Amino acid sequence: MSAPDLRRAAAARAIGLVEDGMRLGIGTGSTANVFVELLGARVHDGLKVTGVPTSEATRVAAERVGIPLATLEDLPELDLTIDGADEIDARMRLVKGGGGALLREKIVAFASRRMVVIADAAKSVTTLGAFPLPVEVNAFGLGATRIALERAIERAGCTGDLVLRIGPGNAPFFTDGGHLILDAHLKVIADPERLSASLWAVPGVVEHGLFLGLATGAILAEARDGQAHVT
Ligand code: 5RP
Repeated sequence: MSAPDLRRAAAARAIGLVEDGMRLGIGTGSTANVFVELLGARVHDGLKVTGVPTSEATRVAAERVGIPLATLEDLPELDLTIDGADEIDARMRLVKGGGGALLREKIVAFASRRMVVIADAAKSVTTLGAFPLPVEVNAFGLGATRIALERAIERAGCTGDLVLRIGPGNAPFFTDGGHLILDAHLKVIADPERLSASLWAVPGVVEHGLFLGLATGAILAEARDGQAHVT
């Protein structure tokens, strides 16, 4: 049972949540891509939905398989968002943004009545923080923002390094919104709410990858006896 099989199993279960006429937020990443592919097949068979993509990459993928798309200007309220995650804890608090789409992902999740996470069960953790926490920042004032963020992280009781995310061609990675990402390698986030509040106090922070109180459900797939089990 490979990681792609587990992603497919979780995405296939999420397709079962989609009803005719729904306004859907569509996530970003390899698991969300499988959801897009499966949703495209259902649309081809006559399912009527309208999707709001959480990144340019998802927009392109969804257009390719014929999913009708809209923006949050057209559809400011969504019924359901399906998205992946980098970590999820028992309280459905998430770390997201491994693919750099955290800002649009959070806006879309916040606009949705429900947000269901689809992931390999290996993403389920007792304590968030092993996955580096993305902090999206304005390029202006990067040096000052970095120092202020280091202090904010310390004030929240965490320790670790901030690393500027690098993209293709060894150049800084730019998000769809034209911002930079500092990945916070913290290992342990003992109090995600405290860290979130502390990060928000820093001017220049556009968004961070802690999704707190947004996920309403999770579909996690794990391999057992050579088969994918979804819970
Ligand atoms: C992108 C994300 C993704 O949802 C997250 O990185 C999980 O991706 P994958 O399904 O490829 O493991 O937050 O910004």
